[in-house]
Amino acid sequence: MNTKNPSKFDTPFKKEVFKGLTAYPKYLSSKYIYDSKGDKLFQDIMAMPEYYLTDCEHEILSKHTKDIADYFGNVKGGYDLIELGAGDGKKTKILLKLISETETNFTYKPIDISKNAVESLTEKLSKELPKVNLDAEIGEYFEVLERLKTFKSRKKVILFLGSNIGNLLHPRAIDFLTKLKDTMNEDDMLFIGFDQKKNPQTILDAYNDAAGITEAFNKNLLARINSKMDANFNLDKFKHWEVYDPETGTAKSYLLATEHQKVRIEAIDLDVNFEEWETIHTEISQKYDDKTVAWLADEAGLEIITDFTDSKEYYKNYLLKRK
Ligand code: AVJ
Repeated sequence: MNTKNPSKFDTPFKKEVFKGLTAYPKYLSSKYIYDSKGDKLFQDIMAMPEYYLTDCEHEILSKHTKDIADYFGNVKGGYDLIELGAGDGKKTKILLKLISETETNFTYKPIDISKNAVESLTEKLSKELPKVNLDAEIGEYFEVLERLKTFKSRKKVILFLGSNIGNLLHPRAIDFLTKLKDTMNEDDMLFIGFDQKKNPQTILDAYNDAAGITEAFNKNLLARINSKMDANFNLDKFKHWEVYDPETGTAKSYLLATEHQKVRIEAIDLDVNFEEWETIHTEISQKYDDKTVAWLADEAGLEIITDFTDSKEYYKNYLLKRK
């Protein structure tokens, strides 16, 4: 350990960058892509024609709103609709609008660690859907869910949209679902999006757009290390690379060094050597089929009540409960 400079790892980001860039092969976690620039780039990705995930989930929620709302609202006493990582809440708004027209006895609780995200969503929603009971929480998902489990007896419906679970390899996805299950009571439900296996070319196009938005998104990791850790990555000497394995359903993003180079990361006192074509693995975006989702659910102590899909069957939202 570094004793000369004990503050070298004063944030988890610094610690993980050190670990990932001194490992072989090198890796960085995609969760660090999302600063304000990364958030903006992800919004641009969701608006791209190639990124079908957002449109498909939007179609599912629009087409099956009534059906979905009926599953959610099958109890007396109302329920809390809890969204993990709501973002701009665009998709959830469709559901909220319809549910609020037919059922008033529910509260929408978006949870996010970003105070900014929660505040702007709250402001927007209270204007656009003034009838919806809104009670946002700033905090870590499981902290908030634990608290709700102990202090609330009414039904919870947890929303986890956008195939965000796809950033986790199966063992970690099972851990995540198990932790969610542990916060759920018998009647609670989990409504969760899983992007499906499909023509591999469609998937590659979604994660390797010609305009280079995904490339900029992926490289934002390096840009962020430059600005947060006083580093000198030359973004022009890295190239975004996407691979998809149709057998496992795993899409993987890399940054490739296009020439031999050395990078200095001042804040963690690290010199990183890159050979020509050396890789940094940055993200996984897992694709699923029914069998795999049923297995993950089962491993986590959950079972599938039903599922909803879009007209192309590119994407599915599953409704789960405790076994
Ligand atoms: C936000 C994790 C669902 O993996 O599809 C989009 C992030 N990465 N394009 C995904 C992402 C590249 C996205 N998730």
